[in-house]
Parts: sequence; C-alpha cells; structure tokens
Amino acid sequence: MFDLVVKNGRIVSGNEIKKANVYVKNGKIVRISDEDLEAKHVDDVNNAFVIPGGIDPHCHFRDPGAAYKEDFSHGTAAAAVGGMTTVFDMPNTNPAVLDNKSFIYKRNYFADKAFVDYGLWGLSLGDLNLNTLDEIKQAGGVGIKFFWGYAINKATNALIYNYEPGQNGVIPPLDDGEVYKIFERIADNGHVLAIHAENNELISMLTKRVRENGENDYEALLKARPTLAEVLTIQTAIAFSQATGAHLHILHVTSGMGVDLIREAKAKNINVTAETCTHYLFLSDKDYGKIGSGMKVYPPIKRESDRLALWEGLKDGTLDYVSSDHAPHAVREKQGDLFEIPSGMCGVETTLPLMLNEVSKGKITLPFLVRILSEKAAGLYKIDDRKGAVKVGNDADLVVLDMNRKQKILNKNLHSKEPFTAFDGFDITGWPQRTYLRGILIAGDGEILNKPEGKFLRANY
Ligand code: DOR
Ligand code: ZN
Repeated sequence: MFDLVVKNGRIVSGNEIKKANVYVKNGKIVRISDEDLEAKHVDDVNNAFVIPGGIDPHCHFRDPGAAYKEDFSHGTAAAAVGGMTTVFDMPNTNPAVLDNKSFIYKRNYFADKAFVDYGLWGLSLGDLNLNTLDEIKQAGGVGIKFFWGYAINKATNALIYNYEPGQNGVIPPLDDGEVYKIFERIADNGHVLAIHAENNELISMLTKRVRENGENDYEALLKARPTLAEVLTIQTAIAFSQATGAHLHILHVTSGMGVDLIREAKAKNINVTAETCTHYLFLSDKDYGKIGSGMKVYPPIKRESDRLALWEGLKDGTLDYVSSDHAPHAVREKQGDLFEIPSGMCGVETTLPLMLNEVSKGKITLPFLVRILSEKAAGLYKIDDRKGAVKVGNDADLVVLDMNRKQKILNKNLHSKEPFTAFDGFDITGWPQRTYLRGILIAGDGEILNKPEGKFLRANY
C-alpha cells in the first residue's frame, strides 16, 4: 500500500506537463501513472499544477552567530511556506564552516531546527584553510564560497563591508596570488568554487570619492559599486578557471556585461556556471524612488537594461538558475543612510510567488520555472539522484500550485524572524498552495503544518 497519492495533478517537469497521479512510499516517489490505486492518504488536487519542490542554493540563515537577524527554524519555515524544499546555507556564520569539525557542528546544530532539507556551503579564507577544503567536500558540502574582495573580522568571521587598509582585527582581502591557490585546490579536488564578484580596490577608491562629495543617493551607490567592479572580478575569475580547470560558479550576477562575459566563457567551454537572484530580475534603479533604502543589496541592483539582459541570460541558459540570496537584517537596521545600513533582504519565501506571477503574465512557462528553480541546481550540486524533479526514485518533494490565487506580497505575512523584502505590496497571481517534503505535508495556505523534519542533504560529488 502506498503512503500517499497526489491525485489528478498536472505534473510539471523541465520539458513538459503531464496529467498523472504521484504515488509515494517511505518518502520517495515510487510510481507516476494514471492508474487509480489505493493509498493511506489521498490528496486530490483536482487538475492543479504540481511542481518539484524548489531549491534555493543561496541563503544566509545567520544561525549561529547573528540569530537576531534570522535563525534556521524561521528561515526554513519561510522556505517551506514559499515552496522551497531544499536550501543551502551560506558558511559565513559564527562559527564559520571552515573544516570538517565546523561542518559537522553546523550540520548537527541544524538537525532539530530544519523545516526543509538543507545542504551546507564551506567558506574559503585563502591560505588559512586551504588544507581543509577537501574535508568539506568529503563531508558532503555543496561547494566552497569565497567572498572575493571582502575583508573578514578575525573574531567573528563577519564580512566587513567598508574595509579600510590597516584596520585592526581584520583579515584583509586576499591578493590574486592567494586567490589563485584556491582555484588550484578546487581544480584538484573537483568541488565548486562560488564567488562573490566585486573588485574591492576599485570600490574602496570610488566609495571614498562619492562620500567626500557628500553624495548618498542611489546613483552614488551605483557610482561607488559600479558594473565595472563586477566585470573586473568576473574576468579574473574566468581566467583563473580557464587556467586551472576549476569549476567556477559566479554568484548573484547583476549586469548585462557580466552575462556577456559568462556567455563567452561558456562558448569556449570554460568550466563556469552562474546564478542571478530574484531582486535583480524584478527591480532596477528606477524602483529606488518608490522602494527606498530597503532595496540595498550587494552587489547593488543595477539599471533596467541590466535587468532585461539578466532575463535574456536566464532564457538562453547563460545563467543556470535563480537563487534568493536570502540575507535578512533586523528591520530597524534597514532604515537610515544608504551607505551605512546593511545590504540584503529576505527572499526565500517570495522567489516562487514572484516567478509564478511571471507565468501568470505569460512571460515564462512552468517547465522553464522548474528548470531554473529546481532541476538545474539539483544537477549542478550533485543532488539530482534525490531532488529537483518529480520522478520515480526521487524524494517526494512536491508543491501544489494555486494559479488563481491573487494576493499581495506583504512583509508582515512572511515567516522570517525579521520579515523584510523590497516586494511589500507587489501583486501576485499564482501561489504555492501546499508543500510536501519527502511525502510529509509541511505547509499549506501560507502556514506551517508540521514539526521540523528537514534533514541534512549530502552533495555527491
Ligand atoms: O547584500 C548582501 N548581503 N550581499 C552579500 O553578498 C552578503 C549579504 C549578507 O550576508 O548580508
Ligand atoms: Zn549571499
């Protein structure tokens, strides 16, 4: 006897939509067919679309270390309600994930807090942990994150956004020689090196210049952190990937020029993949007047022409998938001078609704959505034997959609600890209705319906 059947759904894969019943046993999809068979639980979805649970590979759940901004149980509850059944946590927590010991620590620390399944990133600090990167891969880490151009607080591993040379208690940004060694190591062990691409030397000089002029509007932020900063680092990174063979993943691409560089690199068969994030696809500098400092993220949201180029890059496969860069701060921290306030916002709960709204508008199709929110990330991070598609043998991570539901995104309805996005008040048609994680109904109608039963997920490189 089956544990569950999700019946009469229109099942969406990366290339088609098929009417079928999905049968589940022991958390796995065991049969997909139009037969009417007995199961302990029957969920007749009455012709609704059913997609594989979303994968959000780029989340900062802040826990442990800055749990006043977000914590793992709130963050993964937000994921569950938002139709994301797999999340990867970024490693710049305190303690940071630097070796096997800190990896296991976080893995265990999350064990009773997770509402969805989770993978873990490791962090590169250059020479300081070059010799423990292999351990992170062996422990099942999804990849290694490198904050190129950032200084790091020695005591807390917090990123330093406004580094000045000579600052005390700080690991300064690495030089290119040190960075090259990270690429060599990743080439050697076959893992993924994911980078934050912004050139610090340029940003430092330009920030000083605009601050001295007393400028502090959005134009000033774009002058201080221009597309050129992204382009410089992407160029160097691609050259390093070409020279070493390391799998380079470029995080949160924001510009048309960035997309062009990645497109060229892929055409030359350089080992590069890339993502963009929801806010770069739905916002541009034109929105600053309406939204204000709440839309500050790093790298900053650029021009309307960049936004359109990112959609083009996503559609032609230059950009592999979309993540949220879920990076909450306390709501009160997000008010104030644009240059002083922290960058980042919630995103794990609003990515799928924003994309479903594009489907409702006829701008993208559901199979395309499944590719960029589930399928491609599963393949890239070696979890596609369990995640990313509604297919026999995979985990029964299923999201039932309600494409008729019209509702605004409201910050006050989010499940994060500090519920703040730039999308407050956005009209959305099409919402995740119910979320199953390994056959367990974990969320429905915008609420959590189960205790935390998410599990650590190993990337099988
Ligand atoms: O806006 C951002 N916030 N960009 C980053 O790269 C880091 C993140 C954070 O952790 O706050
Ligand atoms: Zn990030």
